[in-house]
Amino acid sequence: MGRQGTATGEEALARALGEHADRFSARFGNGAAPRTFFAPGRVNLMGAHLDYNGGPVMPTAIDRGTFLALRRTGDGCVRLATTHEDTVAEWSGERLPSERTGTWVDYPLGVLRELQASFGGPFGVEILYGGNLPIAAGLSSSASICVGTAWALDAIHELALDRLELARVALRAERGFVGVQCGIMDPYAIGLARRGHLLMLDCKDESFEHVPLDSGAYVIAIADTGVRRELAQSEFNRRVDECRRAYEGLGPHADGATCLRDVPRTVLEAHGHELDPPVRRRATHVVSEVERTLRARAALLAGDVPGFGARMFEAQDSLRDAYEVSVPELDCLVDAGRDCEAVLGARLTGAGFGGCAVFLLRAGGEAALEEAVRTRFVERFDREPEVAFFGADAGPREV
Ligand code: GLA
Repeated sequence: MGRQGTATGEEALARALGEHADRFSARFGNGAAPRTFFAPGRVNLMGAHLDYNGGPVMPTAIDRGTFLALRRTGDGCVRLATTHEDTVAEWSGERLPSERTGTWVDYPLGVLRELQASFGGPFGVEILYGGNLPIAAGLSSSASICVGTAWALDAIHELALDRLELARVALRAERGFVGVQCGIMDPYAIGLARRGHLLMLDCKDESFEHVPLDSGAYVIAIADTGVRRELAQSEFNRRVDECRRAYEGLGPHADGATCLRDVPRTVLEAHGHELDPPVRRRATHVVSEVERTLRARAALLAGDVPGFGARMFEAQDSLRDAYEVSVPELDCLVDAGRDCEAVLGARLTGAGFGGCAVFLLRAGGEAALEEAVRTRFVERFDREPEVAFFGADAGPREV
C-alpha cells in the first residue's frame, strides 16, 4: 500500500485513473475522452463526535478515495455508473428524481440536484465511479463521493465555485437529498485538505487552519476491524439526541452557550448529576474531548508530536467508557498500538461501532506496528486485520 505525497504515489494514482478512463469508455462508448478526478477519504485524529456539538476537530485526508471519470453529454441526460455494478442509471437532466432511490446513486444525485437548484442546469453528464476506499469503514466514502462529484461537475461545467462552497454543496446533498444528519467534518476534511497537514476545523464558526505534520518523520496508519457498522446509523442518531439533551440540561447554566461545546467543565461538575447517567457520560466525553483536542493542537504546533499522540490514546478511553461507541475489535487494535514503541497515539476513527482504528507512528515503525496489530488481533479474533499506511493527502484534484 503506497504512501501519498511521493512521486511514486502520484504516478500510481495517474496510472489507476488512466485505467479508470478506459473502463469509462468501455461502459459509455467512445467519443470525447473523459476527464478524471480523485477525491480522498479522511481519518479523524482528534475531536471525536464533536462536529455536531460545535466543537473543534482535527481530521486529515488520506490517499485512498473515489475515482471519477466524466464528460458532458450532448443530449442533456445524466448517466451514472460504478465499477461495482454493470448497470447504468439514466435520467433526463431536466427530470432528476425527487425521491431517494435508496442506493449509492443518491449521493451523486443529491449533488446534481443541489448544483442545479443553485446554479441552473440541467447539467447533462456521464460519470463512472470507482476507487480504492473501503465502504462503511469509517473513512467517509460517502463524503468522498459527494465532494468529488461537486468538484468534477464544477470543473466540467465551469461553475468556478471555491473549495468551501463545494464542501457546502456536498454537505447539503447528504443532509438534504440523502437524508443523513451528519456533522460538517467529513466534507470539509476532504474539500479543504492540504498535503502534509491536518485540518483544524472549528465546527461552531467554520473557521479553519492547516497544522503541519512532518510526513517524512511521521506516518498515519489505519487498521480495519472488518466489522461493518450495522448499529452505526441508529446509535449515531441516539448519540446526537443524547448530546441535545445534555445541552438542554447544562446550557442554561453556562453563560452565552449556544452548543454543548460551550459548556465548561465547571458547569458539568456542578450540574452533571441532574442528567440521566448515559446523557451525563456523553457530556463528559464532549467536554473532555474539546479540552483534549485544543491541547493536541497546541502540542502539534509546539512540535510535540508524542504529546499529540498521547491525547489520541486518552480520546479512545473516553470513546470506549463515556461515549460507548467502541467495540472489542477496536479496543484490541488500539491496545496493540499502546504496546508498540513506534506508535505515538491511536484511537477509533469515524463514528465507531466497527470500522477502522487510526495510528500515528514514527516513520520506520511500520513493520513493528503491523506485527503488533496482527499478532494481537489474530490471537483474539482468529483473523487478520488489513493495515494501510498514509501521509496526509492533498484534497480533490483532476489527475
Ligand atoms: C461520522 C460522521 C461525522 C462525525 C463522526 C464522529 O463519521 O459522519 O460527521 O460526527 O462520525 O466524529
